[in-house]
Amino acid sequence: MDICIAGGWLHDLGLVKGNRHHCFTGAELAREYLEGLGVDAEDIQQVVHCIEAHDGEVVAGTLEAKVVHDADTIDKMGPFGFIRHVWKISLVEDLDAERLVDTVAEHIAERKSKLYLETSIRIVGGFHRILESFLEDRETATKVVATVVDCASKGIPSEDTAQILLEDPTLEKDFRDTIICQTATCYLD
Ligand SMILES: [Fe+2]
Ligand SMILES: [Fe+2]
Repeated sequence: MDICIAGGWLHDLGLVKGNRHHCFTGAELAREYLEGLGVDAEDIQQVVHCIEAHDGEVVAGTLEAKVVHDADTIDKMGPFGFIRHVWKISLVEDLDAERLVDTVAEHIAERKSKLYLETSIRIVGGFHRILESFLEDRETATKVVATVVDCASKGIPSEDTAQILLEDPTLEKDFRDTIICQTATCYLD
């Protein structure tokens, strides 16, 4: 559990050096950081592996790394995951709303296909169906993406961005209910 928690906290550390291959830059930064704290060498290796394997670039070889990988993936799934991922990508890549919809949808489908644990696959299934039906309405999806891009550019955190979207009565009830569930991590109950 401690390895998973440390991996969870540190997995995106590499983003301070940019999005590209941040699993490797993050693993290196975390190793230095944990060595500086005097953490046991074997524990460091375990945490470092969680970080390098968190986004599928490296195959997770331990249960702890699978847990961190799947937790990070669950965070990117469904309506709230879509919002969070659009938010992040809009800040690191120069794409218009249409391209963002496609890029993020593709990324989500790819990450979903790499889930390791049965529990994760079960959690994600329901969310993903809601997102798929949302994406069928291209016009609404592009409108939502434009709102998210605008919020991200103003420095409004993704959680607050989701709250702003919840106030839009034209969005499907299922879509909004799933955002509420995801932001409250109701799937962990
Ligand atoms: Fe990441
Ligand atoms: Fe992450």
